[in-house]
Amino acid sequence: MNRREFLNRSVAAAGSALLVKGGLRATAQSRSAEVPRSIPAGEITGARFPEGFLWGMATAAYQVEGAWNEDGKGESIWDRFAHTTGKIKGAATADVACDQYHRYRDDIAILERLHQKSYRFSISWPRIQPSGTGAPNAKGLDHYSRLVDAVLEAGIRPFCTLYHWDLPQGLEERGGWPNRDLAGYFADYAGILAKHLGDRITVWAPFNMPWSFTWMGYGVGAFPPGRSSYVDFLKAAHTVNLAQGESFRAIKAASAKATVGSAYGMAPAYPKTDSDADRAAAERYHAMNNVYFLETAIHGRYPKAFVVPTPYEAMGFRPGDEKLMLAALDWIGFHYYTRRIVSDAGGAALAGGGASFGTEIEEDTSGGRDPYTRFHAVMPTEGPLTDAGLEIWPRGIYDLVTRISRDYNNPIIEITESGCSYLDGPYEKENGAVPDARRIEFFRAELAELARAISDGAKVRAFHAWSLLDNFEWADGYSQRYGLTYVDFRDEKRTVKNSGLWYGRVAEANRLDV
Ligand code: FCB
Repeated sequence: MNRREFLNRSVAAAGSALLVKGGLRATAQSRSAEVPRSIPAGEITGARFPEGFLWGMATAAYQVEGAWNEDGKGESIWDRFAHTTGKIKGAATADVACDQYHRYRDDIAILERLHQKSYRFSISWPRIQPSGTGAPNAKGLDHYSRLVDAVLEAGIRPFCTLYHWDLPQGLEERGGWPNRDLAGYFADYAGILAKHLGDRITVWAPFNMPWSFTWMGYGVGAFPPGRSSYVDFLKAAHTVNLAQGESFRAIKAASAKATVGSAYGMAPAYPKTDSDADRAAAERYHAMNNVYFLETAIHGRYPKAFVVPTPYEAMGFRPGDEKLMLAALDWIGFHYYTRRIVSDAGGAALAGGGASFGTEIEEDTSGGRDPYTRFHAVMPTEGPLTDAGLEIWPRGIYDLVTRISRDYNNPIIEITESGCSYLDGPYEKENGAVPDARRIEFFRAELAELARAISDGAKVRAFHAWSLLDNFEWADGYSQRYGLTYVDFRDEKRTVKNSGLWYGRVAEANRLDV
C-alpha cells in the first residue's frame, strides 16, 4: 500500500483521535486536519523546538554492556533467564551484547559526532552490589565514574536510570519485588550511586517502565523471574512504588544537585466506542498502564484502575505507605511507542490466550486482562507496522504529552524513549551505508507532533531516541533492531544508519527540515 492509499484508508476506517476532557476519544467522523498519519509537509518544515532543547539517545545496561561476569559483577535475573533454554528468541544471551562495557568511549564518540546533548543510560545494580545488598563493588563504581566523565567531556548531559530491569539474582532469591524489603535495598543502592556519582550526575530516574517489568515478570511471566500471579504483580508494583519514594529521598539526601524524575512507559488509550463503559475502561487502562506509578509519587494514592475496591490487602499495603510513596518529582519522563484501543470487558468471561507486541507483551484476552481491571486492550493495525509489529501513530505523542501536561499542572517533561525497529542493514551499493528511510519517516512525523504539543504550551525539554545502538531486545534477542547505529554482532562494528546521520543534523539545527 502506498502512502496515499494508506491515508485514504485511515480516513475511511478510523477517522481521528480527539482529546476530550477526561480522556482521549476515537471519533467516527474525520476532519482532514486531524487525520493522525497525515503530517502536512508544512508542519515538518515549520516545526520548532525551544532553544537548548535536549536531543538525546538512550540505552540500557543489560541490552548493551555485555561483560556479564566481569570485574566482580553479580548475576542478574536477566542473566539467569537468558541462560535458561527456551526463554529468548534464537537462544540469544546478552553475555557480550554490544560489548559497550569495553567500547563505551567509541559509543560516546558517536553521540558527540551526532551533536547529542543528552545520553540516557542505565546502571547495572549487580555491578554495584553483586548480590543486591552490602558494600559496593569498587570496580563497578569506577566503570560508571569513567563513563560519566567521558559523557561530560563530550559536552553531553548524563541521564542516569537506576533500574532498567536487571535485578540482582540474589534479591530474587529473597522473594524478588513482591518482597517489600526490596524498597529499602533499592534506596540503599540509589544512595550509593548518588553519593559516588551525584557530584556529576544531576538527572536521575529510579525505574524504567515499572508497569512493564512488574507485569511481565510477575503477572504473566514473559520476563524474569517468569511468575504469573496477579497478586505477585500487585505486591511487586507496590514495593516498586515504595522504592520510588524511598530512593527519591535517598538520592536527594546524598546529592544536593540531584533532580529526580521518571521513565514510565505510556500508551495513549482510545476508547473503542463512545459508550460510557468503554470510556471508563480506557481510563482504567490509563490509570493502570500509564500513571499507576505517577499518581502514587505525586499524590500518595493509587489511581482508580480497578472495577473492585483498591485491593490493598493483596498489595501488602500498610498504614503509612501513602507517605512513603510520595516523591515530588522534579520532572516527568515517559516513553511513547504506540497506542491502544480499549473496551470494557465487563460481561465477557476470562479466557486464556495472549499476545506479544514488541516493546510490550500483554496477556490480554477477549474477556479482559484480569478480574480487577476488566478492560480489553488491543494495539490497532490501522497505521503501518514496524518490523516489531508495532503500529505507527505519530498523533499519540501529541495526545499523551497534552494530557500529562494538563493533568499534572504543566510539568517539565522528558521523552525518555521513542523509536522503531526496522531490520535494514549495510547496503553494498551505497558503500555500506544503512538506508533506513522508514525510521527517518517515523521520527519526522512523530517529532512534528511533539513540536505541535510544545507550541501548544507543553514544557517538553528533551527527547531521547531509542536507541543509540542495535542491541539485545529482551525476549526477542537480536531479532529486532531499534538502533540509529547498526551493530554487526559478529565483530561489534558500528555503522551509523542514515537515520542516525539525519537525527544528528536535526540535533545540530534544532529543526526537522534538514
Ligand atoms: C522499551 C524498553 C527498552 C526497549 C524498547 C524497545 O519498552 O524500555 O528497553 O526494549 O522498549
